[in-house]
Amino acid sequence: MTNEELILEAKKARERAYTPYSNFQVGAALVGKSGKIYHGCNIENAGYTPTNCAERTAFFKAVSEGELEFEKIAVVGGAAGTDADELCAPCGVCRQVMMEFCDPDKFKIILANGKGKHIETTLKEMLPYGFGPENLK
Ligand code: THU
Repeated sequence: MTNEELILEAKKARERAYTPYSNFQVGAALVGKSGKIYHGCNIENAGYTPTNCAERTAFFKAVSEGELEFEKIAVVGGAAGTDADELCAPCGVCRQVMMEFCDPDKFKIILANGKGKHIETTLKEMLPYGFGPENLK
């Protein structure tokens, strides 16, 4: 699966975003080692703090289905009804969830805007000196 193809999947996932409060809609597409793709969108809540980001939705779907190793994730986000100019970066909590399941050197994060621009980075770059399962061994 190319990055461009994965970004299209993230855009499809974004269509399901439930965002009555922020109106900021995010989609994520996560590739498991099995090759399966897991889609996620942000799901907001009237209590605000129970809101779940698109990336975590994708990870929790995958882990709950038995996938524990991952290759890459594409993320796209912006105000509802727009193709954002900005790249959408995962929040700190989502980076920490990635740290639990992914090799920081190998796991690729693809940040995309809505207009065909994207960059590919790694979890290590997005969460330097991250704390993960290795620290508890
Ligand atoms: N959000 C995500 O889903 N992923 C990100 O990478 C950044 C932020 C969501 C959370 C909330 O529903 C909305 O975007 C505004 O913060």
